[in-house]
Amino acid sequence: MDCMKKLQVAIIGLGRLGSACAQELLDEDAMALCGIVRRVESMGPLPGRLRHMPVAGHVRDLPAIDVALVCVPANTVLGVSRELLQARVPIVECAAIEGAALAAHYAELDDVARKHRTAAVVGAGWDPGVLQLFTRAFEMLIPRGQNELHRHPGIRLHHSAAVAHIPGVKGALAGQFRGANGAMQRYVYVEIRDGTDFAQVRATIADDPLFADEETQVFQVDSLSSLEAEEGQGMALERRSSPASGVHASLLLEARFELTALTARVMLHAARRIPALPHGAHRFSLGI
Ligand SMILES: NC(=O)c1ccc[n+]([C@@H]2O[C@H](COP(=O)([O-])OP(=O)(O)OC[C@H]3O[C@@H](n4cnc5c(N)ncnc54)[C@H](OP(=O)(O)O)[C@@H]3O)[C@@H](O)[C@H]2O)c1
Repeated sequence: MDCMKKLQVAIIGLGRLGSACAQELLDEDAMALCGIVRRVESMGPLPGRLRHMPVAGHVRDLPAIDVALVCVPANTVLGVSRELLQARVPIVECAAIEGAALAAHYAELDDVARKHRTAAVVGAGWDPGVLQLFTRAFEMLIPRGQNELHRHPGIRLHHSAAVAHIPGVKGALAGQFRGANGAMQRYVYVEIRDGTDFAQVRATIADDPLFADEETQVFQVDSLSSLEAEEGQGMALERRSSPASGVHASLLLEARFELTALTARVMLHAARRIPALPHGAHRFSLGI
């Protein structure tokens, strides 16, 4: 694709998320990183592939941009975004704000974007962002039921000898944490040998009296060592049908990931859609 036709993307704030977005943009075909806005105190040579990138203290000092990725702290996102939209620069943001404050934040961005005839994608991250899409899909599939969301960022895993001796199991890591309902949950991650039936291993663990005292979730992983090395986030979203609904259904999303890297992917996905969007602020969805 001709370089001139690439969507010109600026990054506002080169912290964890801004840096992850910058790295992703360097490898993009349809978009180009055209500059970075930084605070005065952060100015200085940039490392590696970013070293020739234009850096400015204000977006007006950058070459013409098609969309700005707002990567500043959550409490400054509204002010920064408002200023960009007033200058008719479309934005993508993902401020981690909750509840009524988040609704007010989106309403204000929608007002400003409409008034200045510009588009914004809001909530383009993991949470807020893609997590709400999973939640909605679960609720659509099981309309009468209950959600439970457990976050286990610092889950401590230990090697489980009880599981490691099961035939076909190379090794196992287990961890416990308290779920949203206060009950203890156990997570068991198993690496199995080629040709082993994982369902059989899971059934053996479920039948083991050692694991009978707590609810135990068993997951298969490709490599225990990479799991141990991961410093990412962890969470499990579970939805179960209520007994009164007469059906027995449950859905479970078990996730381990690096929050910043994943959020950068969502920001870029949203940025790609900006040229096609009508004026106003649009909540992130896969179909925006
Ligand atoms: N929705 C999600 O799932 C999700 C996930 C992760 C992050 N986020 C959001 O993404 C944004 C960035 O997060 P982050 O983890 O990248 O934060 P961070 O590492 O603290 O980086 C923020 C950057 O913003 C710039 N900045 C501008 N004004 C600032 C100020 N007053 N104080 C400090 N820094 C300021 C700085 O860049 P310079 O030094 O270049 O000026 C700083 O490095 C936040 O709004 C956060 O809520 C959302």
